[in-house]
Amino acid sequence: MRKIGVLVSGRGSNLQAIMDRIADGYLPLEIAVVISDKADAFALERAARAGIKTVVAERKGCASKEEFEAKINDALTAAGCELVVLAGFMRILSGAFVNQWHHKIINIHPALLPSFPGLHGQGQAVAYGVKFSGCTVHFVDEGTDSGPIILQKVVPVLDDDTEDTLADRILVQEHIAMPEALKLWAEGKLQIDGRKVKVLA
Ligand code: GAR
Repeated sequence: MRKIGVLVSGRGSNLQAIMDRIADGYLPLEIAVVISDKADAFALERAARAGIKTVVAERKGCASKEEFEAKINDALTAAGCELVVLAGFMRILSGAFVNQWHHKIINIHPALLPSFPGLHGQGQAVAYGVKFSGCTVHFVDEGTDSGPIILQKVVPVLDDDTEDTLADRILVQEHIAMPEALKLWAEGKLQIDGRKVKVLA
C-alpha cells in the first residue's frame, strides 16, 4: 500500500473523508502520519482515534521556518511517505520544501482556481458575485494555489449565499474531490505535462 502523509491545521473533515474512503476500500492507500501545525486541531483527534500516528509541528516552537519545515520533512520521511496531502493546512510552504517534494504535494482549495486563491476562497467568491464556484485539487508548486490542476468540482453560488453557506456546500464536494484525486494518483493515472495534468485511462 502506498503511504501518504496528511498535513492539517484544523477541523480535519477532509482528512476524515480520506480515512473513510480508505476504510471502505475505495482508496488503496495508507495514511502513515498526520502532521498538524496546531496542537489543538480536531484533526489530530480524528487521526488518533483511528490509530494513525500524529505529529505536532508548531511554527512558534521553532526558531525558523527552515527548522519548522525540517520537522515536517523528517516526520514525513520517517513514516515512509511518498505523497504529502494538504487537507486544510493553512501555511504556505517554502520553495525549498516544495522542491524537496516536487510534484509530490497535493492541495485542496475551496474555489475554482485560478480564481480566489489564498484565504477565504468561499468569501471571496460571494463578495465578487460569481455565479459558480467550487473546489480545486492540484499539485503544489512554488506559488500560492498555482500548481497544475488535477480536478475541480463546480458548485452554484445562490443569491442569498454567505461565506458560510457556500463553504458548507463546497465542502460536500471537497470530500468527493480529494479522494477521487488520490485514487487517480494511487493508481498511477496522473501524468503531469507542464501546467497540465492528464488523467490516463
Ligand atoms: C477546507 O475547506 C479546505 O479547502 C480549506 O480549509 C478547509 C479545511 O477544512 N483550505 C484552504 O483554504 C487552503 N487554502 P477541514 O479541516 O475540515 O478539512
